[in-house]
Amino acid sequence: MVSIFNTYEELSDFAARQIVSTVQQNPTAVLCLAAGDTPHLTYQKVVALANENNINFLDVIFIGLDEWIGIEPATEGSCYHFLNEIIFTPLSINKEHIFFFNGMATDLVKECKQIDAIINAIGTINLVLVGIGINGHIGFNEPGTDPQSNAHVVTLDAVTTKIGQKYFKEEKSLTQGISLGIAQIMASDKVLLIANGIKKADIIRKTMKENISNAVPASFLRNHPNGIILLDKEAASEL
Ligand code: PGA
Repeated sequence: MVSIFNTYEELSDFAARQIVSTVQQNPTAVLCLAAGDTPHLTYQKVVALANENNINFLDVIFIGLDEWIGIEPATEGSCYHFLNEIIFTPLSINKEHIFFFNGMATDLVKECKQIDAIINAIGTINLVLVGIGINGHIGFNEPGTDPQSNAHVVTLDAVTTKIGQKYFKEEKSLTQGISLGIAQIMASDKVLLIANGIKKADIIRKTMKENISNAVPASFLRNHPNGIILLDKEAASEL
């Protein structure tokens, strides 16, 4: 399903309300939220809505979607740092409820297995929110990704390594990532994909109009029974 909003603000408001109502209905909900520029406003609105309405996130469980390999969690620009600043700290999330990839782990296969085991033990992720890269990635599921995959280590696409520099103050060597797989995203109860701006229009057209395939990993969400693509007018302009 696709929903088109007049503005980025309206889109963010809708996405924030989806997150907050998930937690309102289920205080022990399991959420998996992407880092990135797109969801920035959504998360600010989640914090504001949670505070205004006294919605308690203390028992919510957070599963990390992805992380840059070789970047410390405390480094500004890491996915963990972003989410910690914008949502975990403002909502006073219990650190024991946050299960995030450590991009500095020496044994990355073990790191993947740990997250897989946590998801298996929990059962189901209730809500996933992803952005989309201009190459069609969701999380770090790059073009060519195996749709059956669970958590895995990724050699990043050249587009991702170039664009990824925008999150960091100083230039970083970004060659690999670690990510939940398409199979785990698809097994979640609900997936929201959010995209705004004209720079996302071409990949949104490919996501929605071309064949569903790993050439555009986001296209798999069209097969999700509860997958919602939220767009502003610019991102939807080529549909
Ligand atoms: P962005 O990143 O929200 O910073 O555009 C999206 C993504 O690469 O998933």
